[in-house]
Amino acid sequence: MKKLMVVMTALLLLIMAACGTADEGTTGEGEKATEEKVLVMGTSADFAPFESRNTDGEIVGFDIDLANYIADELGYKLEIKDMKFDGLIGALQTNRVDLVLSGMSATEKRAQNVDFSVHYNHSGEMFVTLKDSDIKTIDDLAGHKVGVQLGTIQEEGAVKIQETVDFELKRLDTAQLMIQELLSNRIDVAYLDKAVGAGYIKEQDLAGFDDPTSSSPGMAVAFPKGSELVDDVNKVIEQMEENGKLAELKEKWLSEE
Ligand code: ARG
Repeated sequence: MKKLMVVMTALLLLIMAACGTADEGTTGEGEKATEEKVLVMGTSADFAPFESRNTDGEIVGFDIDLANYIADELGYKLEIKDMKFDGLIGALQTNRVDLVLSGMSATEKRAQNVDFSVHYNHSGEMFVTLKDSDIKTIDDLAGHKVGVQLGTIQEEGAVKIQETVDFELKRLDTAQLMIQELLSNRIDVAYLDKAVGAGYIKEQDLAGFDDPTSSSPGMAVAFPKGSELVDDVNKVIEQMEENGKLAELKEKWLSEE
């Protein structure tokens, strides 16, 4: 009986404690939470140094620092949604995200479906191969398997190169997968962003060469068409150009020591 009383009291105390915190939640933190403006950002975290997961599984990179700075300046809390690159434009069009920072090149074709900020970076493209590969020029791609990430400008670029050089194209969901395929000899070349390719070359002891045909536009933040955020974000990026913050981020993430 005594035991039962102890258990009952303990239970009662627990219930009271639970009610207490729930109460505080609705009057205190709850209000704050609804007041806090949240900016939902879409990205494809397979693209170091722009966005990738660190060993703790957190998404980090140039775009993440940039987005956090922008969100801070505009008084928002940033929430990040990791998705396939190929799904980002659709996520903007259906308003599942407020903006996209994903090393996305501001092409005219994409601009038909989304709005872009001013450019914040430009890297160009390159071909990455295994270290001992004989593939050193675009013509050498003939007869080989070339990997690209689905939905990227490199996919489009590769299709164009195929008009003059005959190679097999393999479309992959993520940039990481592409490098895995290269390392396991399932493709001979990976065609991707120059800054990202350079990182893999260093990390995985690979080789590569620049794409002389590349004429990609710069990277920009993407928004749903007509988004009111465009002007505000442009202002922050322009301000970052003036106050050296953008250069600082480039130094931190994009400089090749
Ligand atoms: N810059 C290229 C494009 O816009 C590739 C971007 C891929 N980004 C990524 N996070 N995987 O198509």
